[in-house]
Amino acid sequence: MHLKIEKIVPGGWGLAKMNGKVIFVPYVLPNEIVKAKIFLEKKDYAFAEIIEIISPSPQRISPICPHFGVCGGCDYQHIPYDLQVKIKENLFKDEIVRQLGKGIIDVVKKIIPATNPFFYRNRIHLKIKRERHKVHLGFFKKNTHELIPLEKCFLAIPAINEILIMLKTILKTYAAIANQIKTIEIFFSPNEEKGIIILHTLIEINKKYLKNMAEKLIDSLPALKDVLIKHSAFTYPRSLFDKGYTESGLFFKINNFKVICYPGVFFQVNTDQNKKLLNIVAELANLSGNEKILELYAGMGNLSLLLASKANKLIGLDNNKLAVRNANYNAQLNKVRAFFKKIDVDKGIKDFLKDETLFDCLVLDPPRQGCLNALKQTLNIIKPKKIIYVSCHPATLARDLRFLSHIGYKIKYIQPIDMFPQTHHIEAVAMAVSS
Ligand SMILES: C[S@@+](CC[C@H](N)C(=O)[O-])C[C@H]1O[C@@H](n2cnc3c(N)ncnc32)[C@H](O)[C@@H]1O
Repeated sequence: MHLKIEKIVPGGWGLAKMNGKVIFVPYVLPNEIVKAKIFLEKKDYAFAEIIEIISPSPQRISPICPHFGVCGGCDYQHIPYDLQVKIKENLFKDEIVRQLGKGIIDVVKKIIPATNPFFYRNRIHLKIKRERHKVHLGFFKKNTHELIPLEKCFLAIPAINEILIMLKTILKTYAAIANQIKTIEIFFSPNEEKGIIILHTLIEINKKYLKNMAEKLIDSLPALKDVLIKHSAFTYPRSLFDKGYTESGLFFKINNFKVICYPGVFFQVNTDQNKKLLNIVAELANLSGNEKILELYAGMGNLSLLLASKANKLIGLDNNKLAVRNANYNAQLNKVRAFFKKIDVDKGIKDFLKDETLFDCLVLDPPRQGCLNALKQTLNIIKPKKIIYVSCHPATLARDLRFLSHIGYKIKYIQPIDMFPQTHHIEAVAMAVSS
């Protein structure tokens, strides 16, 4: 079947039509003609894969990764970086306008491109597969569970790729455990020049055997400071060398702050772009030193420290107990007035706000699903003058901003940031003020 690509749509897909039916095709550019084969068909739409590019776009470039187009990690390596950024900016604006109306366009800023379009990730999650005596490490093919073995990931910082090479060599001797490991997480701090590995296992594997493998890894990789194991029976990773979370955690320098990120706790993957994000959040908050800030989805305190250092007090909530412990540690380490509590904001925000109601500024950084429910419950009780919303999903950001606008907040500023070059993901910061 031959398809002409009309445009790029969210999710890294190109959109074409065949007999009135919408067909999504990955790794294409507008106006390209491709020979494609449907691999998943629904009533009104289908997903197809490219067999041949019949008429390529003049803007198409050769991807630098030999696995691009097969491995599910990247969507845009066939697009020059400046064009990727334009595509993302337009997709972002379209979504915001679709949900908030044309008038909003004046407050949407130009996307901030990344300093490094490649080799930026401080963390990767590798899949693992054993084939007789061979162990393969890699990522899944887009939309499948088929493993694409990798020698190197062009999104990961170089130190992670060095660990990946050694890991592959050492795993050869320990092929027997490969069937029990689901994912191998490598997390590295360029500031500390140290990394950790977390083995996500399906079952509890003999610790002695794993420790033996971990010792070999640490002997061969001086930059590796711990190997941890995480399986479904316990909530957080545990060091194979019985280290505490602060000892296993990685140190990062973020602006003027020294933070530790505990193993398994959420931390922004693009350290350079994260600094830009923090500066924007602080600028928007425009704090005088007297404010009281409520931060929901605070994680390990990434946004909180800079804000707290310029305010009277910050209270941060997160439902991850280890992240809360981590955030309180970081606040003490940096001597800022930030205090964190473990609360599931969907279930517990009303109760929490029984005792504390005077907040000048509300900061939110929810997961992809956004935070409409928590936002409704929170704003029923407190009426902050300013709301700063950090988002990794334009559609839910637009939905939640629409709610804010319906209840009388004015959306003053929306800033997309490219945190994830070569992929379709878009980060953004927005500010709403009570009118
Ligand atoms: C996108 S991360 C942001 C973390 C932090 N702001 C940062 O920049 O590193 C989202 C955070 O929301 C937390 N979270 C997810 N669902 C939650 C819920 N229902 N209640 C409270 N926290 C939640 C996660 O544990 C995670 O730390």
